[in-house]
Amino acid sequence: MLQEKIEQIKKNFSIEISKIENDKQLEEFRVKYFSKNGLVSSLFSLLKDAPTKEKPQLGKALNTLRIDLQNQFNNVKEQITKGNANKIIDIDLTLPGIERSIGSKHILTQTLDDIKSIFKGMGFSVSEGPELESDYNNFEALNFPPDHPARDMQDTFFISDDFVLRTHTSPVQIRLMKSQKPPVRAIMPGRVYRNEAVSSRSYCMFHQVEGLYVDTDVTFAELKGTLASFAKQFYGNDLKFRFRPSYFPFTEPSAEMDITCFICKGEGCKICKQTGWLEILGCGMVDPNVFDNVDYDNEKYTGYAFGMGIERIAMLKYGITDIRVFFENDYRFLKQF
Ligand code: DAH
Repeated sequence: MLQEKIEQIKKNFSIEISKIENDKQLEEFRVKYFSKNGLVSSLFSLLKDAPTKEKPQLGKALNTLRIDLQNQFNNVKEQITKGNANKIIDIDLTLPGIERSIGSKHILTQTLDDIKSIFKGMGFSVSEGPELESDYNNFEALNFPPDHPARDMQDTFFISDDFVLRTHTSPVQIRLMKSQKPPVRAIMPGRVYRNEAVSSRSYCMFHQVEGLYVDTDVTFAELKGTLASFAKQFYGNDLKFRFRPSYFPFTEPSAEMDITCFICKGEGCKICKQTGWLEILGCGMVDPNVFDNVDYDNEKYTGYAFGMGIERIAMLKYGITDIRVFFENDYRFLKQF
């Protein structure tokens, strides 16, 4: 009986060992035959049930078998290990390597860097504020009273009754003026959030840069001059622009700045709704009520403010027609900049 088993195992062993090709199979094979509960050990445990007079002979046969199988296994193991070593040497060192591309700044970061450097050149510093903002700073201090219809200009993500995801960077104006006395001259970039349906023209999150200059005798002419200089430095010297009256609760008077449509060059097309102009920012003279809210003397100080969307500014500069591409991180888009 035991003798038959020995023969059977021997046979299977030599068939299976000839099929071993890699380390994994080698290890599986080792476990199957040589581990504590492996086939070879299991033969030894059968020895105790054999007739007493056959035991010495069978024991000897088993020992020979074990040594024989172990030797065969060691040979195969050696070959496989050698084979692995040969494979490494097989690598063709003359083949060109895999090229790793170098990362670059996202186009929005590049655009913001350009905006910052232009305004820094005109004496502005850079400040930031939190994305989670009080309703007071986001609206009320900016002269949007509760229930004022102007609140509907910006669809808001409310966190609680008193806190919102800021809908614009204008609340950073309030933080800045509360923390320092005039003169104040700063730009304030950051993320803003609006509860709007996502489309090619609007996204639930985007970026703005706010600007504020407060001092004695700041005029609307300075506002126009500063923004005109910005637009020319950013878009090119031959840029055409215009200021159009508008309304924002925190500025009086308020305006919007338009530039010539980059698609039709002013002829009128779908992108500019046949007007030939595209709006790039909102601006105006700081409303005296806002100065009251931050304890600035509105008899003594005047100031201007402006705000622009970074995505929008970049879309107009590079001819991008869908805002969603900024956030999809499609390498084919990103690598163009
Ligand atoms: N906060 C405005 C918006 O998100 C943009 C804006 C308009 C900012 C006029 C200003 C400003 O500072 O003076 O629509």
